[in-house]
Amino acid sequence: MRVNGVAHPAPEDPRKLLSDHLRHDLALTGTHVGCEHGVCGCCTVLLDGAAVRSCLMLAVQAEGHEVTTVEGLTRDGAPLHPVQQAFHECHALQCGFCTPGFVMSVLSLLAQHPDPTAQEMEEGIAGNLCRCTGYASIRRAIVRAVELSRE
Ligand code: FES
Ligand code: FES
Repeated sequence: MRVNGVAHPAPEDPRKLLSDHLRHDLALTGTHVGCEHGVCGCCTVLLDGAAVRSCLMLAVQAEGHEVTTVEGLTRDGAPLHPVQQAFHECHALQCGFCTPGFVMSVLSLLAQHPDPTAQEMEEGIAGNLCRCTGYASIRRAIVRAVELSRE
């Protein structure tokens, strides 16, 4: 599989979850693990551009595919990705545990709907839970991300 543009061999253990492979083998700890059964969305990554929960996939199922994690959005020292910048500007995080998952879901949403309706925004983040901020600032961040993506 390719992860953030770099080719990696499959893990030796075919039962290893994609989330564990990313975090433990590739040290990509920006992908968080909350519930580990598909509910919280903290582990969301992109698989060929579509948001998936990496705790519900085996790593070997990603073979032949492109995986993007939050680390793949911007290089050290480079400006933040517009979605990350929008979350920063709108204070759309508190502890930040859920944030990588939200950012990846919003990326997938904007790839499908560059100018999403309110309903599409709700559906785009329906699979992500935040225990801290409330969702108003996260919704504002999506609107801001649309603006920044246009600029
Ligand atoms: S850790 Fe994957 S959905 Fe919660
Ligand atoms: S910012 Fe803490 S869980 Fe979302």
